[in-house]
Amino acid sequence: MIRRKCFNKSPFLEKVAILASIVVFMSHVSTSKGFLTFSEYALNCSQFCSCREQSIDTLMREYFQKHSELMGEKYRPIFDQDASSDYVDFLGMALTVLNKIVEVTCIVGDGKPHKVSSLLNGIDSYRYTALEVKCRLNEELIWDVPTWQISVNIFASENCRLLPTDSSRGIEIPMNLWIMEVYGGGDSLFEELDIKYTMNTVAFLLAETGSTSIPKSWEGKFMLSASTICLHNNNLKVFECPILFAKHLDTLNLGGNELTRFPECILNTDIMSVTHLSLAHNLVSDLTALYEVQESGKSPGIAIIDLSHNEIRSIETFRDMPLLTTLDLSHNFIKEVNDDALLLLKNLEWLSLAHNRIHTLGNYAFEKNIALFTVDLSHNAIVTVTPSQFPPKRSPMDLNLRRNKLRHPPFHDCANKKLLTMNIRMLASGNPFHCDCKALAFEKCIRWIESAEGNRSMAESVFMDFKFLQCNSPKSIRGRGYAELSFHTSCIQEDDCPPGCACTVMKTTTLLVNCSGNHLMEMPDAIPTQPNNSIVLYLDHNPLQMLCYRSYLRLLSELHMHNCLLTTVTPAAIAALQNVRVLTLHNNLLQKLPSSTRNITLNRANNVTLHNNRWACSCDNLWLPRWITRHRSVLWTPGRIVCSYLRKPVEEFSDMDINCSNSSYLDVVLAACLGISSIVSTLVIVFYYRTEINQLIYSKLGLRFCNTFNYGDVFSPYDAFVSYSQDNYKWIVDTLVPRLEGGEKKYRLCLHFRDFPGGEAVVDNIPWAIRLSRCSILVLSRDFLAKEWCILELRAAFQRLLLMANRLIVIATEDIQMDELTPDLRAYISAHEYLRVGEPNFWDKLELFLPPPRYCRNNDAPGEEVTVAGAGGDNDKKIAPESGGWDRDTSGLTATKSPASMSSMQPPD
Ligand SMILES: *[C@@H]1O[C@H](CO)[C@@H](O)[C@H](O)[C@H]1NC(C)=O
Ligand SMILES: *[C@@H]1O[C@H](CO)[C@@H](O)[C@H](O)[C@H]1NC(C)=O
Ligand SMILES: *[C@@H]1O[C@H](CO)[C@@H](O)[C@H](O)[C@H]1NC(C)=O
Ligand SMILES: *[C@@H]1O[C@H](CO)[C@@H](O)[C@H](O)[C@H]1NC(C)=O
Ligand SMILES: *[C@@H]1O[C@H](CO)[C@@H](O)[C@H](O)[C@H]1NC(C)=O
Ligand SMILES: *[C@@H]1O[C@H](CO)[C@@H](O)[C@H](O)[C@H]1NC(C)=O
Ligand SMILES: *[C@@H]1O[C@H](CO)[C@@H](O)[C@H](O)[C@H]1NC(C)=O
Ligand SMILES: *[C@@H]1O[C@H](CO)[C@@H](O)[C@H](O)[C@H]1NC(C)=O
Repeated sequence: MIRRKCFNKSPFLEKVAILASIVVFMSHVSTSKGFLTFSEYALNCSQFCSCREQSIDTLMREYFQKHSELMGEKYRPIFDQDASSDYVDFLGMALTVLNKIVEVTCIVGDGKPHKVSSLLNGIDSYRYTALEVKCRLNEELIWDVPTWQISVNIFASENCRLLPTDSSRGIEIPMNLWIMEVYGGGDSLFEELDIKYTMNTVAFLLAETGSTSIPKSWEGKFMLSASTICLHNNNLKVFECPILFAKHLDTLNLGGNELTRFPECILNTDIMSVTHLSLAHNLVSDLTALYEVQESGKSPGIAIIDLSHNEIRSIETFRDMPLLTTLDLSHNFIKEVNDDALLLLKNLEWLSLAHNRIHTLGNYAFEKNIALFTVDLSHNAIVTVTPSQFPPKRSPMDLNLRRNKLRHPPFHDCANKKLLTMNIRMLASGNPFHCDCKALAFEKCIRWIESAEGNRSMAESVFMDFKFLQCNSPKSIRGRGYAELSFHTSCIQEDDCPPGCACTVMKTTTLLVNCSGNHLMEMPDAIPTQPNNSIVLYLDHNPLQMLCYRSYLRLLSELHMHNCLLTTVTPAAIAALQNVRVLTLHNNLLQKLPSSTRNITLNRANNVTLHNNRWACSCDNLWLPRWITRHRSVLWTPGRIVCSYLRKPVEEFSDMDINCSNSSYLDVVLAACLGISSIVSTLVIVFYYRTEINQLIYSKLGLRFCNTFNYGDVFSPYDAFVSYSQDNYKWIVDTLVPRLEGGEKKYRLCLHFRDFPGGEAVVDNIPWAIRLSRCSILVLSRDFLAKEWCILELRAAFQRLLLMANRLIVIATEDIQMDELTPDLRAYISAHEYLRVGEPNFWDKLELFLPPPRYCRNNDAPGEEVTVAGAGGDNDKKIAPESGGWDRDTSGLTATKSPASMSSMQPPD
């Protein structure tokens, strides 16, 4: 740290000063005989004051300590009990040790003017005196101390207005005043002060006066003994070094003024020389004097410059100042530190650039400042630091990088194992660290430091606030500390991760892509891939309908697709899954696997699940039992893979169970359909016979329409219209409604007994109920088939719905055989999927079928009257149950939907 140096004394003036003080003391002692025997006299203290005796040495040290903050205590150790201070040195040992001083402490609050002599009340005449006055009400203090009065030695006032006795003469500072310290002396104090006799003043402080300039009368006056000059918290706009100082000043404090330029004269050694300069809290933006070398040439002796809290916007190359050790540029608006800025400051030891706007540091910004041991760069916008920016060091350097914009801890890869030789100790918390798998490098770095030093706590001697280094992103680990995370066990891979999924690298060897429960309608197009990583993909609990080919399938070691709505596995997809060890397809709606599967053996697999599907035991699936037997050892519960209608394990199914006759009417229809060349007529046929053709193409060619669910308008007031018969009333009211309306997703159901307008026949309202709902649920039972389904209007309404889109969800409450169904329902059900109450995961599946939750839901109570505006599309038309409006709407839907249906007829691979 900086040691206070002996002053460069200017021999001639110094001698004059000493001589003068000796003469003064001698004459005083000889006339009064009293200084050494003060106890003979009682103190006659003024009523406003308290008086006590004190050793000069102690009091001077007290003042020195009081001023230490203004003297730059935060940059250097100022108050050292053992070392004698400047304040005491200047008086000489003998005087301070052998003599006492009377400390007169006054507080006035009567609003009246007071004379200095009356406060002293005669005490001054024989003794060294210190007068300290506080004015509660900004009282006037009349300065009636004559300049020859040598026993007023310290004067300190606070909030008093200093006035001269005679306005033509001004306030003359007595020749033996050692310390003058005035806070708030009035706006005209600078003008009134007459400093021509100040000979023995060591500390001169004038603060909070409101003066805007230094009067002409000060120019050319000497302050022979001055060590500390503080003109802080005034309103000075310029400072041109008016006073002549006989010796090297320790402190010049001009903080809290309104200077806009760095005063050139301060660095001019012909005018003055100072160790510590404070220009804090000014308006300085012009630092030209610090860049340009003046003609006179001698290097300034300045060691500490405080330029904090100014308006500095940029810094250029600082001139060579060989003694400059401390530079405070904090709380400014600096944006950049280029390579040359500090190049010449070879002895700079302490540098603060905190609280600026720095976003760019030159590649070699501090490289040449080899003496640096503290660099404060906190509260900036630095994104990255590199080892080349810092000097090679033998002794440790403290580097504060807190609260920047660093994405990774500084030198997070240990600078290729050079970090320890750099000898840097860092603070780096409060940065928005991004803890993806790149954090592995930092973890390795910490391990390396620990092993290099053979000591676990060593990491903290480099990353001093290691315990407080926190991740800001990814979101899932925001606020977690590096110290508590173990990145080699698991780290987050964000690059290329599909939206909504979580990609994690486990033990640096396995990449886990978790897209489960993510409302995915399609498999992700791409996932991150890394050489030598085995990839595990979770796609379960999504409304996925197809397992399609993706290039990453070849790389997967596990694919979890259970609890989806899978109806289709494409041949290319199953062929690509050659490396898969785990494949879960249970709890889906699969009827079959592509027939090419029969020749594929999943060689690497050790766990494949196929149970709880809709396996069709049909003529073209006759190969499946053999395939299952072949994979028996890797299939999970092969006995539970059962035929959908036969209810026997697929493994046991054979051609004995069914009659595989060659042809049927469907073959004819298919041939006819594919034979028609006109696209228009194909469209018409595809639309009207959609369900049949869908089923046909699927059963014959292994393809099917891409059944994306088309729910009704999101503005529809209801999520689902529920149609049921009386025998299911209890189940509807007790189970279905509470479960869906009271559950987490808060579906809104349309129920005829509750939501239909009264007084009209139920069947009349069904068309609009269907139209105002995003989908319909048909709760199927034998009773329903027998009674409700016979109502013509109901059937007509549902049939339209069947044709329009996949908006009908069929729930069977009891086992119904296919031949019990009417042909239209049978066709629908065999081509689509329906749910059976009580089947595994019934509620999960139902939720997958229902429309996704709306994001913005108005709070209308169900059953309130709704207009068609927004609900259907025909503006301001009242709900029109009559068939005309309905048909028009249907045909509109046809025109927009059919091309999509056609294009989705293309084979997906
Ligand atoms: C003390 O001061 C008062 C006035 O404040 C004066 O009348 C008195 O004579 C003084 N006493 C001595 C001993 O000086
Ligand atoms: C590890 O370092 C800490 C502090 O640096 C020290 O107190 C402790 O004794 C060291 N332990 C060993 C085993 O070196
Ligand atoms: C995948 O994420 C879901 C929630 O998003 C979680 O419940 C599940 O446990 C995760 N699966 C794995 C294998 O980590
Ligand atoms: C992958 O493994 C091979 C051989 O096991 C090795 O040569 C290669 O360096 C590894 N690649 C990576 C990126 O780890
Ligand atoms: C399966 O392989 C057999 C012979 O190994 C071949 O005759 C048959 O065409 C193949 N089937 C499929 C669907 O590739
Ligand atoms: C196979 O997968 C299923 C479903 O994920 C799981 O319940 C079962 O424990 C697994 N079996 C083995 C042997 O890993
Ligand atoms: C299979 O169907 C054909 C005609 O479709 C019929 O003649 C034959 O009797 C049936 N066989 C059995 C076992 O049902
Ligand atoms: C089924 O097809 C075979 C040959 O393709 C034919 O010999 C047989 O007569 C057909 N059976 C019926 C019932 O059409």
